[in-house]
Amino acid sequence: MIGLPRVHHRATDSTNERAKQLAMAGAPHGTLVTADEQSAGRGRQGRVWTAEAGHALLMSLVVRGLGREDALLPLVAAVAVSEACEQTAGVSCAIKWPNDVWIDGRKVCGILVEGRPQEGWAVLGIGLNVSTPSFPGELAETATSLELAASPAPPRDTVLEVLLAALDRWLAASPADTLAAWRKRDALLGAPVAWSGGRGRGAGITDAGALRVDTDAGIVELDAGEVHLKR
Ligand code: BTN
Repeated sequence: MIGLPRVHHRATDSTNERAKQLAMAGAPHGTLVTADEQSAGRGRQGRVWTAEAGHALLMSLVVRGLGREDALLPLVAAVAVSEACEQTAGVSCAIKWPNDVWIDGRKVCGILVEGRPQEGWAVLGIGLNVSTPSFPGELAETATSLELAASPAPPRDTVLEVLLAALDRWLAASPADTLAAWRKRDALLGAPVAWSGGRGRGAGITDAGALRVDTDAGIVELDAGEVHLKR
């Protein structure tokens, strides 16, 4: 079972940073770092990730023994998070490519995978808003929590326990099963999509996890590592 050994910080800079340090020192597959609060939480594409102390599940998992389907790891995580939210809070989740988990069109969870593929490990960082009562400023329009979507929110430890079990299962699943579970929750299917190079409508994902976009010039495939969708 993943989740052990576990290091919990009341406050730290970034659980991803702590987990990366542990991985570089040889920590085994399944090592878990959690925190109540982060002072330098990292998001995708160099963004900052903020969460009110004590209200979010902030965790990073060391994953080892990755195969050639490493590229699907962020998608695996999004499927596992969706399942855990659905099971513990009774909500219905969608996934905005590549791996934002949404409830009712608002983001409840962000996922950041960092690592050293050449050394065979990655850190799976998950920030899931559990009991956050409200969000400040513009975030109020785009973010949500399990509390806001389905009050009362389940306890954070319950969500963690169910999420670890889901991750354990989905990390062992075949790429075909992962892609099928992801595609069932595709929030961009048929929806308008815009990026610096163009615009169109979401047309699913490829077996490698790239976003397919139907544009005036035909189908374009976008790679998650290279493309940033406009809001
Ligand atoms: C994103 O949507 O931009 C990804 C956000 C990932 C945030 C989590 S919180 C726990 C872990 N530690 C970090 O510094 N980042 C991830």
